Amino acid sequence: MSFNLRNRSLLELVDFSPRDIGYLLDLAAELKRAKAAGNERPRLKGKNVALIFEKTSTRTRCAFEVAMHDQGGHVTYLDSAGSQLGHKESLKDTARVLGRMFDGIEYRGFHQTVVQEIANCSHVPVWNGLTDEAHPTQVLADLMTMREFGEKPLHELSFCYLGDASFNMGCSLLVGGTKMGMDVRICSPAALAPPPALVAQMRELARTTGARIAIEVDPRKAVAGADFLYTDVWVSMGEADAMWKQRIDLLLPYQVNTALMQATGKPRTRFMHCLPSFHNLETEVGRQVHEKYGLSEIEVTDAVFESEASVVFTQAENRLHTIKAVLVATLS
Ligand code: CP
Ligand code: NVA
Repeated sequence: MSFNLRNRSLLELVDFSPRDIGYLLDLAAELKRAKAAGNERPRLKGKNVALIFEKTSTRTRCAFEVAMHDQGGHVTYLDSAGSQLGHKESLKDTARVLGRMFDGIEYRGFHQTVVQEIANCSHVPVWNGLTDEAHPTQVLADLMTMREFGEKPLHELSFCYLGDASFNMGCSLLVGGTKMGMDVRICSPAALAPPPALVAQMRELARTTGARIAIEVDPRKAVAGADFLYTDVWVSMGEADAMWKQRIDLLLPYQVNTALMQATGKPRTRFMHCLPSFHNLETEVGRQVHEKYGLSEIEVTDAVFESEASVVFTQAENRLHTIKAVLVATLS
């Protein structure tokens, strides 16, 4: 089946069929087992990959780097500070140069149109490492984690995403969950709901995948019976700090806390977050928000983040295995 994905770019999950996604999740599980057993077979020897980051990253960068090293390949990291990117050379020219030297390109930045342009110009596979609109490699790790902890096939599981549903995570989770036929609940104030065109497209797709989609404003209603509660930061990379006041006013009722976890009515509901998270005062941003607005924990309480229900660090680890699966499937 993997020949389907050879030389393919991963720009957004919409372009991948449920079968493609299922294949990547199976491959990721196989690669995870092989690494743990110490018998991983390197399938990317001699391959070179460029990693372009116009926004900062811990997990995504490390996952791409470790995945390539584990598979016998090499990476080159580029950001705006240490390269010509942006100030002296357009992305289009950069993409054409990198396409002549590298076997594939990861890109993290702002607009989805940019990652699309890189794919059009470079003639090598391009992987979206996060844009304002989509974070597909994150959602692959999330689906893998739900498979692991859900103890059922994905189409028998439900999750509720709470928070800013208009940005990358809300949109990509809606797509990933719909593709896999899940019970998908997206819960936000109306002002932060996913784009109507995407919702309409996913409702149409749900007719064939069997997904159930609820776009809901009431958190207690949305979480009832959910197997997973998922949240993300309330102000994303690239958004102005001035957004915090408005977001806190809008999103405080959507904070994932112990009462909301209990409102699922399920003792085994798990908590998920793509990370990084503001769940205490141990970050600069967390302390600034505390000083200005008096909140000491933001999108999730420390009690939930640190609880037995929290699977956030397995999610983070699964970024490695799923990104490795994408690299192996598209490059080897
Ligand atoms: N979840 C995620 O993409 O993390 P980074 O921003 O650290 O890459
Ligand atoms: N919505 C967040 C996701 C981080 C992984 C952001 O774009 O900053």
